[in-house]
Amino acid sequence: MSLPEFLQATIRQAMDDFGGARPAMLEALRLIQQAEGWVSDERLQQAAGVLGVTPAELDNLASFYSMIFRRPVGETVILLCDGASCWLNGADAVRDAVTEKLGIGFGQTTADGKYTLINCACLGACDRAPAAAVGRDRRTVGPLDPEGLAALLEGGA
Ligand code: FES
Repeated sequence: MSLPEFLQATIRQAMDDFGGARPAMLEALRLIQQAEGWVSDERLQQAAGVLGVTPAELDNLASFYSMIFRRPVGETVILLCDGASCWLNGADAVRDAVTEKLGIGFGQTTADGKYTLINCACLGACDRAPAAAVGRDRRTVGPLDPEGLAALLEGGA
């Protein structure tokens, strides 16, 4: 399936807005993910074609950012920070609680498709460590404790 016209147009617009293909690469990935929930190999190749860069260049950029999803994800993505501040403040216990509650590890999605758990580098919320970014709007939550994150998920995070 070809890249939808509106995505081609918005990627070209991003190239104009950001001053060229390279500055627009991340925005192109973001636009695709916003439209489709994740960035498939097919879409990545098509976007690279619009940008005039190689798929490898675009894939290298995508793989650098944990918030660019290269596999399908669940309805709610939980980005659990495993940076130094969070680790020092108990992120391991939060991780253990959430993996036990959901029955999945990092990079996995629950069988019902509801949650995907991903580890990530510092979210820039060290003052709220241990922290996570949850949901489509990447709402930052923290400081978390094992019970707090479980309660958040039960509340339909
Ligand atoms: S180390 Fe986790 S938010 Fe900075």
